[in-house]
Amino acid sequence: EKDLQSKHLLHDKTCLITAGPTYEAIDPVRFIGNHSSGKMGAALALEIAQQGARVILIMGPSAVKVEHHLIKRIDVQSAQQMYDAVHEKIAQVDLAIFSAAVADYRPVNPAGQKIKKKSDTLQIELVKNPDILASVGDLKNKPFLVGFALETENELEHAFAKAEKKNTDLLVLNSMRDKGAGFGVDTNKISIIDREKNVFDFETKPKSEVAKDIVHEIIQRVL
Ligand code: C5P
Repeated sequence: EKDLQSKHLLHDKTCLITAGPTYEAIDPVRFIGNHSSGKMGAALALEIAQQGARVILIMGPSAVKVEHHLIKRIDVQSAQQMYDAVHEKIAQVDLAIFSAAVADYRPVNPAGQKIKKKSDTLQIELVKNPDILASVGDLKNKPFLVGFALETENELEHAFAKAEKKNTDLLVLNSMRDKGAGFGVDTNKISIIDREKNVFDFETKPKSEVAKDIVHEIIQRVL
């Protein structure tokens, strides 16, 4: 067991973190998005920086403030912008944590002007976004990879499948069944799954403490 109390264990590492939602434009004033607050990713960025690593935080639209001299924040809006920002930086990182709630689909043709109210129904055609985490999992020289999964049923089974498909070293599973878990709230309840399919269960706790638990599991494996 590596001693977390002795700080700066990650001093020679660079870590990329994605966080927050993505906004997919429908027209210049409207978007498809989700309720991710970016709080879990921000807590992770702070904890990793406190362990001495340089952090590249690639963040979708979020009101959360993150201040630390080791954190460089890159703001993006859409999944495609997040994908581009990740691939611009990924070669220089040792470790990458994908906590963003990326939109699975985006409008095929965002309107150039605000869409006018006309008929009773309106169809918007959607196309799949690239899976950013999976694209990094496919890289030959990939960093240590941490993914997130939010499942509503057969949680473990889906999480094992996701870990394999996305080639993660650790997968953090959030259960939606728990009151103090998930979007917006300041607490979270997680399980962590490693490559050997070990499952580590944690209690509901503040996201800052959840971040410590995740970073603890990372440090055991990257040092
Ligand atoms: O497939 P699903 O969206 O459940 O996977 C969740 C994990 O994959 C998270 O770590 C999320 O950040 C990442 N992801 C991604 N790009 C996507 C979709 C998900 O990086 N387009």
